[in-house]
Amino acid sequence: MKGYVILISVVAALGGLLFGFDTAVISGTINFIQPYFGLSEAGLGWTVSSLLFGCIAGVFLAGNAGDRFGRKKMLMVAAMLFFVSAAGSASAQTLAFFIVARLLGGLAVGIASILSPMYIAELAPAKYRGSLVSLNQLAIVIGILVAFFSNYLLVGTGQNNWRWMLLVMAAPAILLFFSLFLVPESPRWLVARHQNDEALKVLLKTSGELSAPTELKEIQQTLQSQEESSYSELLSPKIRPLLFIGIILAVFQQITGINTIMYYAPKIFASVGQSSDLALLQTIAIGGTNLIFTLVAMTLIDRFGRKRLILFGSAGMTLMLAGLSVLFFLKQTSGIMVLVFILGYISFFAASLGPAVWVVTAELFPNRLRSKGMSIAIVSLWIACAIVTISFPIMLEKLSGGITFLIFALICFANLIYVSRYVPETKGKTLEALEKELSGEI
Ligand code: BGC
Repeated sequence: MKGYVILISVVAALGGLLFGFDTAVISGTINFIQPYFGLSEAGLGWTVSSLLFGCIAGVFLAGNAGDRFGRKKMLMVAAMLFFVSAAGSASAQTLAFFIVARLLGGLAVGIASILSPMYIAELAPAKYRGSLVSLNQLAIVIGILVAFFSNYLLVGTGQNNWRWMLLVMAAPAILLFFSLFLVPESPRWLVARHQNDEALKVLLKTSGELSAPTELKEIQQTLQSQEESSYSELLSPKIRPLLFIGIILAVFQQITGINTIMYYAPKIFASVGQSSDLALLQTIAIGGTNLIFTLVAMTLIDRFGRKRLILFGSAGMTLMLAGLSVLFFLKQTSGIMVLVFILGYISFFAASLGPAVWVVTAELFPNRLRSKGMSIAIVSLWIACAIVTISFPIMLEKLSGGITFLIFALICFANLIYVSRYVPETKGKTLEALEKELSGEI
């Protein structure tokens, strides 16, 4: 039974892996696509962020179509879109074609970013749900690392190297598509479609004979109350503060600059005069550090709490970015210290804001408003991500590295102040206890 649940979670987390891969693969290609398509810095920002506009649309699409056609079918659609995007962007001859292909990939990322964790949560027995949902962030980080690594291996394959880098994604996309045939539809969705017998069959396999009938009842109850929920309820006086916290946390996760490094690291290294393949090797160090410290966070998050982790991480990120900024101001960017500060910054992010923001936004909302509240927070996350991605190359060019990283350091500090004052600790309490506490306390 447990093996079955793990299989389901791993299959769903492949969506997270593709999310990570697709968002990071671009970093290894930009030094090649910029001259190929003749892009200015602003043009590059738009090209890189075209995927993110697709993401925003994808989250909305998944919210509705996931309810209508099922989580599993929509994840299959995402897998097909990942495949089409890989083949399309790899074979693009014109900028317009390239951007459309990346937009389609973005749609897939948006769908996966909502449906993979939701599908896991809906299929996992309650007692494993937390750790199984965290598996998704781990998969995102692994996807990023795989992208960096395959970019590094492919950089020497000649003038079409960037095409091969993008095409690699077709393989996990095919794997996701076919492995989805091995897993069942979410019992929660089945109940919503009045297929209670089917739902019970799935629950018997995931939760066992003892708990399955009770769980079926609980699902029916939750679903009943969720059917009555509406987006406008998120604005009620009790829930509004939680919505703001969810949105602000999600936005801070992005505007503290993580994806300036994740998407543009080779560009930063190239801008301080390093060769393309050395720059890509350093990018692998970034992905590896991200993976190790995500595992560290997973072991600490229930012991130290989300809030303490975020505070500690934000303080570290502030210091690392300030150090990076000083190096740029002093024009001391040729040595190893740029890499040291970047790796330090990544470690602090991965051990804190990386997983913790997803965990807190999932815990913050009452049961019946969770999916609606989370979808608004996640759309805000993608919008913030798009804004940072578009502005970063322009900031680097117009403001210099020193000022750019100083601004991000100040934002990390602002996050620290905000979290210490307004974000509640959510560790160790049941969601129902939190529900009571948060709507009364705030
Ligand atoms: C963020 C992504 C980021 C990744 C890096 C995730 O939690 O949402 O934007 O690229 O972490 O590990």
